[in-house]
Amino acid sequence: MSEMASDSELACVEAWYYNPSGEDSRLPHQYDPNRPVPPHHLTELGVLIWELDADHYDNNPQLEKIKKDRGYNYSDIVTVAPGMMEDYDAKIKHFFTEHLHAQEEIRFVLEGGGYFDVRDYDETWIRFRIRKGHLIVLPPGMYHRFTLDTNNYVKAMRLFMGLPCWTQHQRPADDMEARRTYIAKVLNNSIAAQ
Ligand code: LAC
Ligand code: NI
Repeated sequence: MSEMASDSELACVEAWYYNPSGEDSRLPHQYDPNRPVPPHHLTELGVLIWELDADHYDNNPQLEKIKKDRGYNYSDIVTVAPGMMEDYDAKIKHFFTEHLHAQEEIRFVLEGGGYFDVRDYDETWIRFRIRKGHLIVLPPGMYHRFTLDTNNYVKAMRLFMGLPCWTQHQRPADDMEARRTYIAKVLNNSIAAQ
């Protein structure tokens, strides 16, 4: 497997423009008719997604290869569900507040799922579904937010390179180095290439 996710690996991912209706964030928020976003569009924005065997994550050669190639030397497993964590309501609200990180956000979904919303070039929200088997990487400096779906359950492996840091920098965080780099390397670069 190459270091970058190819289109075929991304083919399993459903993405669409987010309809900002006032409904519960855990609903799909699609337009009628739906406005799908092709997987390669997410790739251009710097999102990586693989599909792996989530039933055997202990000695999974694909996972081990990604960890080695990308330098992910830390992992733990978290469950997000009512009654399974302290301050559930506050945490869920926090996850759905637009933010970025100075490092990659890397999640391997072992059970359950949810939705990530990421900003398109023109700031429109793109929503994509994550479900069992998806390993997703959001690049440093990309504004995003996360919500569970109506099943209210995700169990995921968090990976990291180096000492783990889960700090969310809420928008605006435009002066951060990671944001500047993301704009220069991804947003401006891709627009220039179009
Ligand atoms: C995080 C996700 C929820 O930062 O975006 O943990
Ligand atoms: Ni995040």
